[in-house]
Amino acid sequence: MLGIRNPLTSLALALTDVDFETTPHDHVTALLRSAHLDADELEALAPFDTTRYTRHLLFRNEAFELLVLHWPDGSASAIHDHGNQHCYMAVTSGLLVIDDFVVVSGGKEPGFAKIASAGTTIMPAGNIDIRTSARDLHRVTASGGAAVSIHVYAKPIDHFLLFEPASNSCRTVVSRYDSLPADLTNDDRPQMQVSR
Ligand SMILES: [Fe+2]
Repeated sequence: MLGIRNPLTSLALALTDVDFETTPHDHVTALLRSAHLDADELEALAPFDTTRYTRHLLFRNEAFELLVLHWPDGSASAIHDHGNQHCYMAVTSGLLVIDDFVVVSGGKEPGFAKIASAGTTIMPAGNIDIRTSARDLHRVTASGGAAVSIHVYAKPIDHFLLFEPASNSCRTVVSRYDSLPADLTNDDRPQMQVSR
């Protein structure tokens, strides 16, 4: 096995067979639900940072990337889009609060962006969130304890827009990983192969 760590080998293999351009989202979420994700194993992939959420890359090719995110209690993402890619997020332990936003004006490129709140969803473990639109914005917050989530981005997201409502603006952010499989770096955008 090359370029991937347990415990998500089977899920990564299944995802390599998916054509994300044509496959219904329900099929991808079914793969996530049947992946037998072990919360303890996922928590053990890397130590929690108590000051912020962290992103751990498990697998990446041209079609998708598979990450585990660790959320210490109270940590939150910025309001962000998903770089025009699909995002599937499965909560495997803890509870995440999803604050949705919509773009009212601007927001297609860095600069002016007016957004508005569009509701809040509570996601305990077992729930899956899907983002498919270029203007599908949210903020994710861990509440009531630490949380862990699995993310499939198709295609991999190298950069995205971060929104700052206080200044009615957005800016481009380059995505980074807090840990990667051995011998890979953030500056060497990896293309990994997984063997069967
Ligand atoms: Fe997101």
